[in-house]
Amino acid sequence: MSDKRISDDMEQALNRQMNQEAQQAQAYLALGVWAESNNYGGIADFFYKHSEEERQHMFKFLEYINTRGGEAKIGAIAAPADNPSNLKECIEDVWQHELENSRKIYDLVDKAMAEKDWPTFNFLQWFVKEQIEEEALIDGLRDKFALASEDRVNNANFYSLDRDMQDASQEAELPREQKL
Ligand SMILES: [Fe+2]
Ligand SMILES: [Fe+2]
Repeated sequence: MSDKRISDDMEQALNRQMNQEAQQAQAYLALGVWAESNNYGGIADFFYKHSEEERQHMFKFLEYINTRGGEAKIGAIAAPADNPSNLKECIEDVWQHELENSRKIYDLVDKAMAEKDWPTFNFLQWFVKEQIEEEALIDGLRDKFALASEDRVNNANFYSLDRDMQDASQEAELPREQKL
């Protein structure tokens, strides 16, 4: 494409991240199903909403690549990882995923800076900010889980943890709440 305003290399890197966001959406969807089948309805809602957010991230990359005269290439999505064996493992896995995703965003920022690609640098700042919020959200969850699991007698704590997660503020709505 003659009017392309990103390097081939940057186009590829942004495409990789776009597919990574789609992969994250798929991973959260699978965790939602896992939570629901383990009777954690609130936690399931949390993951379903988060899956929608990741899909929106995917779309932001898609739009940006196309806007710069590149071509978004939709790749295959690998099957999500095996189900976690318990809620603690689930939350820790999610935490590690988000940290890894932040690192991938920072690598892209590095690349934009090295190429002096300031439009892409600017575009990526939204994701830098988003990852601050996502890390805070998931870290908050780890804290709540730690509090809830300290009291091993009173399982009501798990119930309220589940409610907390249902109400945790997120931008996306549940797919079933969206007007078609
Ligand atoms: Fe994301
Ligand atoms: Fe995320």
